[in-house]
Amino acid sequence: MSQAARKILVTSALPYANGDLHLGHLMEQIQTDIWVRFQKLRGHDCLYVCADDAHGTAITLKAEELGLSPEQHIERMHTAHKAVSEGFLIQHDNYYSTHSAENRELAELIYTRLDANGHIARREITQAFDPEKELFLADRYIKGTCPKCKTPDQYGDNCEACGATYSPMDLIDPVSALSGATPVPRQSEHFFFKLPEFADFLKQWTRAGHLQDEVANKVSEWLDSDLHEWDISRDAPYFGFEIPGQPGKYFYVWLDAPIGYIASLKNLLDAQGKDWNDYWKPDSDAEVYHFIGKDIINFHALFWPAMLHSAGFRTPTRICVHGFVTVNGKKMSKSRGTFINGQTYLDHLNPEYLRYYFAAKLTGAVDDLDLNLDDFIQRVNSDLVGKVVNIASRTAKFVQKSGGTLANDIAEPELWQRFVDAESSIAEHYENREFSKAMREIMALADAANEYIAAKEPWKLAKEEGTEAEVLAICTQGLNCFRALVTWLKPVLPQLAEKAEAFLNETLDWSQPLRFRGGESIEKFKPLLTRVEKEHVDAMIEASKEAAPAQKASGPLADEPIAEEIEFGDFAKVDLRVALIAKAEHVEGADKLLRLTLDLGGETRNVFAGIKSAYAPEDIQGKLTIMVANLKPRKMKFGMSEGMVLAAGPGGKDIHILEPHSGAKPGQRVM
Ligand code: MSP
Ligand code: ZN
Repeated sequence: MSQAARKILVTSALPYANGDLHLGHLMEQIQTDIWVRFQKLRGHDCLYVCADDAHGTAITLKAEELGLSPEQHIERMHTAHKAVSEGFLIQHDNYYSTHSAENRELAELIYTRLDANGHIARREITQAFDPEKELFLADRYIKGTCPKCKTPDQYGDNCEACGATYSPMDLIDPVSALSGATPVPRQSEHFFFKLPEFADFLKQWTRAGHLQDEVANKVSEWLDSDLHEWDISRDAPYFGFEIPGQPGKYFYVWLDAPIGYIASLKNLLDAQGKDWNDYWKPDSDAEVYHFIGKDIINFHALFWPAMLHSAGFRTPTRICVHGFVTVNGKKMSKSRGTFINGQTYLDHLNPEYLRYYFAAKLTGAVDDLDLNLDDFIQRVNSDLVGKVVNIASRTAKFVQKSGGTLANDIAEPELWQRFVDAESSIAEHYENREFSKAMREIMALADAANEYIAAKEPWKLAKEEGTEAEVLAICTQGLNCFRALVTWLKPVLPQLAEKAEAFLNETLDWSQPLRFRGGESIEKFKPLLTRVEKEHVDAMIEASKEAAPAQKASGPLADEPIAEEIEFGDFAKVDLRVALIAKAEHVEGADKLLRLTLDLGGETRNVFAGIKSAYAPEDIQGKLTIMVANLKPRKMKFGMSEGMVLAAGPGGKDIHILEPHSGAKPGQRVM
């Protein structure tokens, strides 16, 4: 507008190349794309780059499973990801891959500078090694029994039952999830980025307006506890880039992933004969924005700025963090059919519905965003079809009838003034990523325009003699309101805007202040958007259930084969008793546990049970159950646990406490 054109580089996080894009990824890309389209529409020089994050062990394993080479696998995923993004009208200026020559060159450059600056440490570490697969195992590929609470089948870094954290070699009876072999400890030299040396720089940087306040607070907690050196190397075999001069050592995927932002830009600009470094040199006049989810804050707000700083590049202008998508109030779930892949959505529904729904709920904060499917249908139909499109469909035909040329003058200056006045605040909401506020203002103006038309009733007037000029003036007014609304919605609804442009006979542009358009001709009105049908939403959910990967091992027995045979005496050692759950209560600060007071008919026991995901206290209070009464008490974060209640099921909602048939009494032994 009046201000000079800004030079802006925008990214969204690089999706892992080993999975399909789902609605969580697409929320991020839609948020980013709306912001980018807004900047472009305002006349700024804005580039949006992204890429697939193609490295790491998970890629190799998945490729193996598919009978492909890692290169073939990531190539296929790249094609699929691009197609889905395009389907959602995401306008990447470049969608590249971290497995590229540019990224190798830049990763080597940055690493070499970090090393030359003394910011790389080397030392031997001991890690779990899979002797069958002949590779080092990341924590998530090791399972075993928790060394603290003895719960079986826990991952290598923390226990889901008691919350203990430990190193994978501390697990009891650890096994490699890849081969089933027992991992052995093995030493190897690793390379570390000396993050602690950047503590002061980061304390200042994270408080300098680059982060949302809530994010800066979170990061402060990390900065105030202690920073650790960051392990940036992995041993062969690893799908990634070999560290220069260090045969057999590879960059950890998270080292070269953010560098992929620069590599994607370089790939784009090299082809245009332009210099990527204009955006990344320390005194660059460009702005750089990274849109990311809340799970990857540490990589973007700590490691990345520190790396850039050491390597002599500028740091990002802003890290824009969003929350997670939930569906109908719950985490996306394959069994409920709410783990919705982008392609599955596109097979059933128009992408602009979802773009609008996300826009109507997105704010500049980190809150999670719920896709409530009933609300989705209702809101899209009422706002887009019932309000915005309605204005044009009820006025356009009268302009057509009187020759297709708009009237010259503003019929209702007061209404028009409301539109003129709203423009800058709508723009400000977009700029601040407060899209929901922008949508609310736009819909309030749509309401005002509809009320005006409803009050004037041009369809009635048109039946009377000599009212042609008046009808044309009313409808011209309506269509001017419509074109203002569509201009402001264009970042969200590019396809609808394109259709509206064809009928309005103009390109809607927001680089100039709103003007009233009169005396010009328009084309015949064509339908712009159809209603969302519930049956299509239902079909999408059904298809998502089908798309859920078939369980390899089916059933509880296959999941957990019957344990080794024991003597009767072994069993007799376990003293099982009928217990009355006298009291069940929440434990402050524990998200998995309930505190149970178990009455054994004379004595009581305090037991912490990891059943909160399946039971509310009132569901079980007053009921009988079976407990292990002679289990050695153990100290937990929230107090002593004196026994265990018996339950079946894998976890989550699927936990079922044992209850004796009626007649059993508290304290009775179970044999
Ligand atoms: N490859 C890394 C990012 C590297 S960036 C240099 C990664 N990939 S991811 O595929 O797991 O996630 C990509 C983005 O999608 C992240 O910003 C992540 O937060 C976001 N989302 C993944 N699931 C999500 C939801 N359910 N909801 C919203 N966004 C989520 O992390
Ligand atoms: Zn545990």
